[in-house]
Amino acid sequence: MPDYCSFSIKPLSNPIGALIKGLDLTETVHGDALLDIRSAWSRYLVLVFEGQELTPAQQLNFAHQLGRVIRYPMVQGLPDYPEIIPVVKLPHETRNFGGVWHSDTTYLPDPPSATLLLARELPPSGGDTQFANMYLAYDALADQTKQVINKLTVIQSSAKPRVAKGRSEKVQIGARAGDIELTAEHPAVRIHPVTGKRALYVNPAHSVRFKTMTSVESEPLLSLLFQHQINPAFTGSYRWQQGAMVLWDNRCVQHYPLNDYHGYKRVMHRITIA
Ligand code: SIN
Repeated sequence: MPDYCSFSIKPLSNPIGALIKGLDLTETVHGDALLDIRSAWSRYLVLVFEGQELTPAQQLNFAHQLGRVIRYPMVQGLPDYPEIIPVVKLPHETRNFGGVWHSDTTYLPDPPSATLLLARELPPSGGDTQFANMYLAYDALADQTKQVINKLTVIQSSAKPRVAKGRSEKVQIGARAGDIELTAEHPAVRIHPVTGKRALYVNPAHSVRFKTMTSVESEPLLSLLFQHQINPAFTGSYRWQQGAMVLWDNRCVQHYPLNDYHGYKRVMHRITIA
């Protein structure tokens, strides 16, 4: 395990994630500490900062240090902080936001590199978020499969029914979720701009078909990849603590929030980074 001068770190699981202690994110993080965070993030892909009771302004300040903050296209942000969206499930609701394995907003031409999610209110138990390492998922494929998917482009859509329905129960900007369809094309395998490693970049929430194939032709290979990429050998889970904030890398990670706490409220604040 590498040493970081600025904090202590402990892996969350073998495939993905690390828990960071000893950093105070209420203050601007400077120099070496920021470099250490970037280095740990490249290595572990998901970083958990526990014990951070941040105000929205402090969460936003940290996000600005990591990159350019962008707005989520579908859900209204907080009145004073439009870049922060509340991810809320109320006691009477049965669907949760983003409750399908995904990488964030892959239907945008420039999907976000990072997401920063801060726990505001948690159920007494449950509501963990699972993460899957898309480098490992790619590496574990047979060479023949890699050769095929390395050349494929995927059509990504915001309107796949399961996701659009879950989102439509949340606050919308300007229209109902069913009225909006955003689409983009991205390679099925992307090369991470920082690590240079290949990561599988299809996900069941937004990937519709391969560009050069019909939906029917795409279905068998997409289904196989959707199953393969969430093999427990590539995944890890975080059980949220009050005041924890998680940073994940959408370029090489998928996530899945468990929906196992009906009757209780869960409130998170989410920021995305270009
Ligand atoms: C999301 O997909 O951004 C929500 C993740 C979560 O609620 O844990």
